[in-house]
Amino acid sequence: MKTLMEIIKSRKSIRAYQDKPLPKQVVKDILEAAKYAPTARNMQELAYRVVTNKDLMDKLSKGIAEALQKEGLPLKGPPGVRPSFFYGAPLLILVIAPKDNNWAATDAALAVQNILLYATSIDLGACFIGMARFIEKDKELCKLVNIPDSRTIAAAVICGYPAENPEPREKKQTAEFFE
Ligand SMILES: Cc1cc2nc3c(=O)[nH]c(=O)nc-3n(C[C@H](O)[C@H](O)[C@H](O)COP(=O)(O)O)c2cc1C
Repeated sequence: MKTLMEIIKSRKSIRAYQDKPLPKQVVKDILEAAKYAPTARNMQELAYRVVTNKDLMDKLSKGIAEALQKEGLPLKGPPGVRPSFFYGAPLLILVIAPKDNNWAATDAALAVQNILLYATSIDLGACFIGMARFIEKDKELCKLVNIPDSRTIAAAVICGYPAENPEPREKKQTAEFFE
C-alpha cells in the first residue's frame, strides 16, 4: 500500500482517458473523499453535480469554448481540432457553492484535492478543471446541470482510467524559516 506521501508525490494531472465508465461505487467513494474535506466555519455548503453523460459533457465543453470566444480569451489547441476541456474523461464533477459564501473557492479546492489524492491512490487519473467555471456564462447550460442563480461553480474535476502516463511536473518550493 502506498503511503500518503507517496500518493501526494505521484499525483499528476491526467489529460487523456480510456473510453471506459467508472463503476458507480467508485464514483460514490470519490464523493465520499470530497465530503471529508474541511470547510470554513464547518459550513459544509458545497454541493456536487456529477456528470457521466457524454452528450452533456460535450455540450458543457462547447459552452466553455463559446464563452471563451465571446470574452476574446484564447482557446488551446489548433483551430478546428480543439479537444474537449474534459479530455474524454468519463466523469466530471462540478463543485458548486452559494455565491454569498466567501470561502467557496477554498472549500471547493480542498474537496477537489481530496478527490485528486483519492483518485491517485486507486490508480485513476484526475485533473482540476478551472475552465469549467465558464459554464456559468450560459444560463441554459446551468439549467441542464441544475445550477441555480444563487450558486456558483467553485471548482471542477475530471476523473477516469488514464490513457497517458506523463512525466511528473517539476515542483518548486519557496520557504523561509524563522527559527
Ligand atoms: C485552480 C486550478 C485550475 C486548473 N484548471 C485546469 C484546466 O482548466 N484544465 C487543465 O487541463 N488543467 C487545469 N489545472 C491543472 C494544472 O494545469 C496542473 O495542476 C499544473 O499544470 C501542474 O501539473 P500537475 O497537476 O501534473 O502537478 C488546474 C489546476 C488548478 C490548481
